[in-house]
Amino acid sequence: MRFSILFGALAASLLTTVLFAAEKTTTLTVEAGKSVAPVSPMLYGLMTEEINYSYDGGLYAELIRNRTFQDDSKAPAHWSLVQEAGASAAIELDKSKPLNESLPVSLRLDAKSASAKSRVGIANDGYWGIPVKPKTCYRASFYAKAAAGFAGPVSVAIESDDGKTVYAKGEVASLGPDWKQYSLALTVGEAAPTAKTRFVLSIDKPGTVWFNLVSLFPPTWNNRPNGNRIDLMQMLVDLNPKFLRFPGGNYLEGDYVKDRFPWQKTLGPLSDRPGHQCPWGYRSSDGMGLLEFLYWCEEMKAEPVLGVYVGYSLKGADGDPNANVKTGADLEPFVKEALDEIEYVIGDVSTKWGAQRAKDGHPAPFKLTYVEIGNEDWFDKTGRYDARFAQFSDAIKKKYPQLKLISSVGYEQSKNKWVKSRTPDAVDEHYYLPADQFEKKSHGQYDKYDRKGPKIFVGEWAAHETDFPPWDKRSEKKPATPNLKAALGDAVWMAEMERNSDVVVMHCYAPLLVNVNPGGRQWRPDLIGYDALNSFGAPSYYAIKMFSTNVGDGILKTKIDAEKSPLHCSATKDSKTGEIFLKVVNYGGEKQTVNLALKDAGALAATAEVETLSSASPDDTNSITEPTKVAPKKSEIKDVKESFSYAFQPYSVTVIKLKPAETARKRARRR
Ligand code: AHR
Repeated sequence: MRFSILFGALAASLLTTVLFAAEKTTTLTVEAGKSVAPVSPMLYGLMTEEINYSYDGGLYAELIRNRTFQDDSKAPAHWSLVQEAGASAAIELDKSKPLNESLPVSLRLDAKSASAKSRVGIANDGYWGIPVKPKTCYRASFYAKAAAGFAGPVSVAIESDDGKTVYAKGEVASLGPDWKQYSLALTVGEAAPTAKTRFVLSIDKPGTVWFNLVSLFPPTWNNRPNGNRIDLMQMLVDLNPKFLRFPGGNYLEGDYVKDRFPWQKTLGPLSDRPGHQCPWGYRSSDGMGLLEFLYWCEEMKAEPVLGVYVGYSLKGADGDPNANVKTGADLEPFVKEALDEIEYVIGDVSTKWGAQRAKDGHPAPFKLTYVEIGNEDWFDKTGRYDARFAQFSDAIKKKYPQLKLISSVGYEQSKNKWVKSRTPDAVDEHYYLPADQFEKKSHGQYDKYDRKGPKIFVGEWAAHETDFPPWDKRSEKKPATPNLKAALGDAVWMAEMERNSDVVVMHCYAPLLVNVNPGGRQWRPDLIGYDALNSFGAPSYYAIKMFSTNVGDGILKTKIDAEKSPLHCSATKDSKTGEIFLKVVNYGGEKQTVNLALKDAGALAATAEVETLSSASPDDTNSITEPTKVAPKKSEIKDVKESFSYAFQPYSVTVIKLKPAETARKRARRR
């Protein structure tokens, strides 16, 4: 009897202990009364370069691949001969009839026999197909000249890849013996969307014709000629970017000095742009030239963060990876090149390059605050970056004292590589890390940074869910875009940077874009995937969108009162509207019920908007066929108080938008 009483008491006390432990909820406190520092007005931004067919075969809307026949000097890559039964013809690259100095290679079509029933021609297979969409008007153009004895016509068509279905057709009635550009509209009527297609220029009489700069554009963003693909632009604009870092990345530097981003040769008519070798294994058409980058910024209401070439290429000067352009006189032409480039962006029309920009169609100077001196110059083993930075910085600051200059060597690199002879306005840090490592770093990496030193620009970052880095061969077998686990790593990192955005003034995910067709990518993970017809955002895209579209102008102090919590958070307040944006990342697999304590928040509206990104498994991801499997869902909290309980889903990113009571009342009155 006594034993059972004792046992009963013991069991009861154990139960109390267990219950007490289970009841202990975490408190997340937001000091909502006043902000501790301003949020950088440059949050959030984008980074871009030609990689993964980002522009050619991606954002730049041109649909013809190898339009100037220079991709392969031995064969007309992506072009084939159309020769219907009974006809006879051949095609060949021909340097004897250059269009001009920039476009020296033409494609010659020799038709020995052809007729109305048996045409011959040249066909282009596009970037993994030409996207045919119903009720869509395309603009086709090409340069052509004919040998004596042939005067046209030339048929122009978008058709199925076997030639059996013609989706849109037009005709150029006559050709002459001299180079001339022809252009026409091709309209697709009712048709199911398809990319099993080709673009064909054909003739139905014997003769010889040379072609160059063959182009086909679908409708573009803002209808800008030579513009951008609409679905991708929409996704980018939806991120509300404040800046665009371009042109790289490795694409700025090129493998060799001669392959650096040749901004002067990317200006003006397409017929004056020779294109150049890109370090990611293919040739760039340079249709996305300097002015197109700037238009792209303007169309997103973002400002450029311009990277200028400073004498370091990936495989070095003269093919020696340990060499680069020497400082002093050897570097001077590159300094001038950078000054000219800046003048093109911001010089007024009385300057040489400002006048050129006006001639190219944009008299008004663009806004430019930041210029980055090179890219990842910590790879420069000669130790000359400090001196190269100094030479560029002195020249740029002398002419443009208002510009802020970024060192491409950040404080994540060893101290001996930092720029010391000058004080950069900001330094660029790059992080490609496993999600778990970002989680560890996000317990205050930037709290420790000196607030009086240069600002931090995290110019490239991305979490991967694999246990090998992006440059490991094994990455090739993984999908180009990452899964929810990586998005959680990205989100904790963004929370860390946002909490510290008084010092981390800018940051951007990299790479931004990837063509997901086989052979399309050179790097994973990437943010936005697409093929010829469709596009989708990785879970990370949605995490970034949730952060970038819900941010105030003041940082609020937050505290999570648990020693080991999978939760990470950041809170900001909009001083104009009084709205509070609370972001919480639950990095773990358990639901987390939290007491949210909003100290000194004033009267808040009882209803708060909530967006949650989560999924059943952290391995879940998006793809062309399941574009929004992991996408944010909206809900509401109805009982907002100074202190209330909220359960954060396992593996989730949550944004809670708290409104002041007054705003809510005003809104209601307006309704
Ligand atoms: O983002 C891919 C590459 O990673 C960039 O081109 C380069 O700057 C970095 O090493």
